[in-house]
Amino acid sequence: MAGDKTVETTGLLGWIDRRFPLTTMFKEHMSEYYAPKNFNFWYFFGSLAMLVLVIQIVTGIFLVMSYKPDAKLAFESVEYIMREVPWGWLIRYMHSTGASMFFVVVYLHMLRGLFYGSYRKPRELVWIFGVAIFLCLMAEAFFGYLLPWGQMSYWGAQVIVNLFAAIPFIGPELAIWIRGDYVVSDATLNRFFAFHVIAIPLVLIGLVVAHIIALHEVGSNNPDGVEIKQGPKDRYGRPLDGIPFHPYYSVHDIVGVAGFLIIFAAIMFFAPEMGGYFLEYNNFIPADALKTPPHIAPVWYFTPFYSMLRATTADFTWVLVAGAVIAAAALFLKGNLKGIMRIAVPVVLLIVAVLFRAIDAKFWGVVAMGGAVVILFFLPWLDYSPVKSIRYRPTWHKYLYGIFIVNFLVLGYLGTQAPNPTFNLMSQIGTVIYLGFFFLMPVWSRLGTFKQVPDRVTFQAH
Ligand code: HEM
Repeated sequence: MAGDKTVETTGLLGWIDRRFPLTTMFKEHMSEYYAPKNFNFWYFFGSLAMLVLVIQIVTGIFLVMSYKPDAKLAFESVEYIMREVPWGWLIRYMHSTGASMFFVVVYLHMLRGLFYGSYRKPRELVWIFGVAIFLCLMAEAFFGYLLPWGQMSYWGAQVIVNLFAAIPFIGPELAIWIRGDYVVSDATLNRFFAFHVIAIPLVLIGLVVAHIIALHEVGSNNPDGVEIKQGPKDRYGRPLDGIPFHPYYSVHDIVGVAGFLIIFAAIMFFAPEMGGYFLEYNNFIPADALKTPPHIAPVWYFTPFYSMLRATTADFTWVLVAGAVIAAAALFLKGNLKGIMRIAVPVVLLIVAVLFRAIDAKFWGVVAMGGAVVILFFLPWLDYSPVKSIRYRPTWHKYLYGIFIVNFLVLGYLGTQAPNPTFNLMSQIGTVIYLGFFFLMPVWSRLGTFKQVPDRVTFQAH
C-alpha cells in the first residue's frame, strides 16, 4: 500500500495518503527535513530561484498566447502584446525582468556555494546538477532572446551560432545545421521557439527536482561548513543543530521573497530596460538581415564569458602555450601523478600547447568561453582545502575570492563595451585570473593557516 504505516491521517487527507504518499512526502521534505539552524541571508537564493522559475513559466505561458513565432510577425506580435493585449506590457516586463533577475539570483546562489564549500563531499551531485541547471539557463536565455526578433536578437544569434563554425572540420556544416539555413532566418526562429518554450524548460524542471532530491538526501550545508548529521542528536535521532524546514525556514524564506518582490517590482515598473542592460535599446528596432549594428553585445549575464571569448586573440594563444608548458613541467616534476599518468598527462598538455598555435585562435576563444563554465563541474575535485567554509580559511583566501568576484564583474563590464586595445588587454588579464583561480586551486586551496572548525554550528538567537 502506498500509505506509510507511521502516517495516521483521516478524512480526505487519509483517503489520499492511502493512495499517494502526500503526508510522507511533506514530512520528508518539509516538516521533518532538518536544516541547520544557522542559515543566513545567502540561503534565500535557492527558494528565490524557484520563485523566479515559476514567474518565468507562468508569464511565459501568457506570452505564448499572443506571440507569433514567425519572422514576418514576431516583432509586431511583441509590440501588440505591449500595446494592445490587456496587461500584456506587465506580463512582458515580468518575463524580461525575470530573465535578468534569474541570473542575479543564481549567480548569488552559486557564490554562496563557493563561499561555504557547498560543492564538496557529500554534495558533489547537488553542485553538478546545479551547474547543469546553469548551462540550461544560459541556453534558455539565449534561445528566448531571439524571439522578439529585434536587431540585437538577430545579430546576437548570428554571432553566437557563427562561433560553432570555428570548430575544425565540422564547424561550418554544424553552424548551418543549427540555424537550418545559411543565415539566421524563419527556420531558426521556429526551432529556437521550440527549444525555449518546451524542450529546455522540461529539462530545467527535471534538473531542479534532481537538485532538491540530491540536497535532501545528504542534507544542507551551512555557513560554518559543519555537518549537522555527524554532530550530536536527540533521543529521536534528530540533529541538535537542525530545525524543521517547515515552519521555520518556510516562514523565514517569506522575508526573502518580500524583499525580492519589492526590488523586482521597482525594476519592472520604473526601469524595465535598466539602462539598456535588461532590454537593449537596439532591440526595439526590427531585425534587419542587411544592416549589422555597429556594436553587438550580448545581455549582461553573458558578458563575462563573452569577454573571455574576445580576449583569446592569436597573440593570447602564446599565454595559453606558456600555461600548458608550465603545467606539464610542474606535473612531471612535482605532481603526485602515478605510473603511466605521470608521463601521459604532461605529454597531452604539450600536444595541446602545440594545438594552441596550430588551430585558429577563434576556436580557442570558444573553448575558453565554454571551458569557463564547464570547469565549474570539476570544482569538487579542485578544492583541497582542509575546511569547507570561507569562515575558517586563511584571511588571504578571502582576498582571493574578492579578486575573483571583482574580476568577474570587470570582465562583465568589458563584455558590454566596444573593443579597444586597453580593454582587450584588461580582458586578457581577466581571463588569466578567472582560469588561474580554478586551475591553480589544487595548489592554493591547501596553503596557509586554517582556523579551527567548531564541532557545532555557531548560532546566536536574535
Ligand atoms: C533554477 C535554478 C536553481 C534552483 C531553483 C535551485 C534551488 C535550490 C534550493 C531550493 C536549494 C536549497 C536552499 C538553499 O540552499 O538556498 C539549493 C541548494 C543548493 N544549490 Fe541550487 N538551485 C538552482 C541553481 C543552482 C546552481 C546553478 C548551482 C551551482 C552551480 C546550485 C548549487 C546549489 C548548492 C551547492 C546547494 C546546496 C547549498 C548548501 O547546502 O549550502 N544551484 N538550490
